[in-house]
Amino acid sequence: MKTYNEIKEHLNIKIDKHLNDGFAHLTHYWQNHKNGVSQYFKPNAIEYLQESILSLVEEPDQLYIPYKYDVPFPPKLNPKFKFIDLFAGIGGIRFAYQNLGGKCVFSSEWNNFAKKTYEANFGEVPFGDITKISEENIPDHDILLAGFPCQPFSIAGVSKKNALGRSHGFLDETQGTLFFDIARVLKFKKPKAFMLENVKNLVSHDKGKTFKVIKNTLIALGYSIHFQVLNGKSFVPQHRERIIIVGFRTDIFNESENFKFPQMPEPTFKIKDILENEVDSKYTLSDKLWNYLQEYAAKHKAKGNGFGFGMTDLNGISRTLSARYYKDGSEILIPQDGLNPRRLTPRECARLQGFPDNFIIQVSDNQGYRQFGNSVTVPLIQAVGKELVKSILAINEPRKSKEAVN
Ligand SMILES: C[S@@+](CC[C@H](N)C(=O)[O-])C[C@H]1O[C@@H](n2cnc3c(N)ncnc32)[C@H](O)[C@@H]1O
Repeated sequence: MKTYNEIKEHLNIKIDKHLNDGFAHLTHYWQNHKNGVSQYFKPNAIEYLQESILSLVEEPDQLYIPYKYDVPFPPKLNPKFKFIDLFAGIGGIRFAYQNLGGKCVFSSEWNNFAKKTYEANFGEVPFGDITKISEENIPDHDILLAGFPCQPFSIAGVSKKNALGRSHGFLDETQGTLFFDIARVLKFKKPKAFMLENVKNLVSHDKGKTFKVIKNTLIALGYSIHFQVLNGKSFVPQHRERIIIVGFRTDIFNESENFKFPQMPEPTFKIKDILENEVDSKYTLSDKLWNYLQEYAAKHKAKGNGFGFGMTDLNGISRTLSARYYKDGSEILIPQDGLNPRRLTPRECARLQGFPDNFIIQVSDNQGYRQFGNSVTVPLIQAVGKELVKSILAINEPRKSKEAVN
């Protein structure tokens, strides 16, 4: 009987550029061998084990199931609902929904550095490119979760289809975008609800067309939808506006799901509360970079374009942490007495998004900045999730004992 990390070490599994979906199958199987969805992962998991350690094991499925998860955020015991985590990144959304009592039964993320962080924290490797994953290989779930990249929909593609005399379904309009992959999973798996997260600009993107297509597609798929732009500053000292779209199956909820976005608490957070006490001098800007940023800002100010960098008031909140923060860190600078300003450390970025300090960061600083900049404000997602889950539990509760999903 071994722990998760002991087995991983024994099998000599590493998350690097040679990683294939074998380990994703294996970790998904380990996390789901008792909850009725193991058939989705077991055959490939066993094959993977046999291929990698054939000579060592007689009964790989029995021998290699971890008896204990020695990762910070293991699967919940006695979960109340199942969800899937698409465009999973480092699992900010998973973290929030696990906290709400959910069990993740499938994750997908194609970036290996993000997979590394995800695996270190949750003990599961996400599957890769969602565009290559058939919806038939995704287990049943109550809630689909996705913070997906925003892309325009091609009108040209649609009119060409019309010109060819083919009637285009609502899905055709989204073809070739990552939203299409969400839509096809919704169409096939019909989860009771979903939550999608995106940048605020999704609403105005492509003169509003992108959002209109998304809304119409979700409605045509049989969901009643709710959406709102929410600001992370109610939960963390960061200005971060994101649109959240929530949907419920109309044939189950009859459009009376009683869902409301949460009341946003009055912001009380200050950036000084998330700063580390001891910070390495490597985070202090060099004279060259600091001079450049000041000159650049002065030039733009003269043109009336506002400031180029964001010097943070320690008693206030920061600008939005973006995935580009690793470039020069100019959007969030921390003033220092007698020194050039510094950028945030990756741990401070994690805190700025509401991740707890036991969240493992094993990647380089640059990857860390990208990952937290791409991620979500966890407590905001959890506040929305709490409302969504209430509606799901009202439906799941009577069947709960039968659907034990350990
Ligand atoms: C905005 S981020 C979502 C981050 C996530 N919500 C989190 O908490 O970390 C979008 C993610 O989608 C991933 N992605 C983009 N295209 C993908 C694809 N075709 N298949 C799987 N993942 C993809 C990116 O690597 C990125 O990590």
